[in-house]
Amino acid sequence: MIKQKELITTSSTSFTSTCLDVDENSLIDEEGDLYGLKFDRVIGEGAWGTVWHATNPSGDESYAVKVMSKHSLLKERQQDHAHRERKILPKLDHPFIVSFTKFYQDTRCLYFVQEFINGGEFHLLLTQNRFLEAPAGQFYAAQIATTLSYIHSQGIVYRDLKPENMMIGKDGYLKIIDFGLSKRIEKEKYSTGKTLTMCGTPNYIAPEILQSKPYGYEADWWSYGVVLYEIFYGQMPFQGNNPSELFKNILNGKPRLSPRIDNRINKLIKGLLRKDPKKRYGAKKVLEHEFFKSMDFEKLQKKKLEVPFFPSVKSESDTKNFAKIKVPRFNMDNCPELSPEEDIFQNW
Ligand SMILES: Nc1ncnc2c1ncn2[C@@H]1O[C@H](COP(=O)(O)OP(=O)(O)O)[C@@H](O)[C@H]1O
Ligand SMILES: [Mg+2]
Repeated sequence: MIKQKELITTSSTSFTSTCLDVDENSLIDEEGDLYGLKFDRVIGEGAWGTVWHATNPSGDESYAVKVMSKHSLLKERQQDHAHRERKILPKLDHPFIVSFTKFYQDTRCLYFVQEFINGGEFHLLLTQNRFLEAPAGQFYAAQIATTLSYIHSQGIVYRDLKPENMMIGKDGYLKIIDFGLSKRIEKEKYSTGKTLTMCGTPNYIAPEILQSKPYGYEADWWSYGVVLYEIFYGQMPFQGNNPSELFKNILNGKPRLSPRIDNRINKLIKGLLRKDPKKRYGAKKVLEHEFFKSMDFEKLQKKKLEVPFFPSVKSESDTKNFAKIKVPRFNMDNCPELSPEEDIFQNW
């Protein structure tokens, strides 16, 4: 049986903020507040943003709002990442990708309003179960593979595949969030199908990225291999006591494969964790792999399969599957304001 531990209590601070960027479908209310959304608690924190749970004024709709400080983005030179997320996320439409609702900004912050996925992070499910057995693991692995293949079909490399960026919906299916590192590398003027920027989360970074070589979609399939290892082995395939040890292992080490694990899974992982991106398995090899032979991808896409685990939630707006963050790293109210001259975000 798959388990999920109960977490947390909720805190309640609510505030509003003025918007500059309002369009016809805006949720903004008459007073010009941030569409009257009530921000009740922080549900997540990442490198550049704080994610809040918010409800509409009547309290019957829930959202997750990723808030980023303009000042911090400029200071850390992260504005391009935020801009890509702004451009990419609204264009994606897939059952296993978070739905984007609205984008707003004021003089202090950017606000990405998204559907609230209340089952918590897939990461939590993995840590609480240590590893998953093949049928449950296959259910999640298949969703991640089809989603990755869809993202690539849109000319986009994702670059941050990891269980922290996968949420479990109340229907038990996954949704990929966080397009902060994604980049369009095809289907755009001057695009080459490759990129160079060194980015990602250390444990999941492909060898070619570490070697500063131009890379493409294959780098995401490497990260997918790492995630599969994590799902079925309950640990990381490459480890190290510090980043340089870890990177050395990613570049030269071999993941330990055990006969305890279904041989088809081991073969798939091996094909994905090939150091040479040209030899690595990609979408076709993965989706047609013998490990997925019994998977009905059509039914999966329509969410018609038996689900191995349903998160425990009392209502749409239940936030108990999210760890409580007492002091958020930054709060909208104390983010510095940008002057119109400094504010390069205005025409986003
Ligand atoms: N739509 C969402 N529904 C529920 N929780 C979310 C949602 N978006 C983000 N979160 C939570 O906030 C965390 C950080 O969000 P993310 O977009 O990954 O930010 P970052 O780019 O800073 O990593 C996530 O790992 C998740 O726990
Ligand atoms: Mg993230």
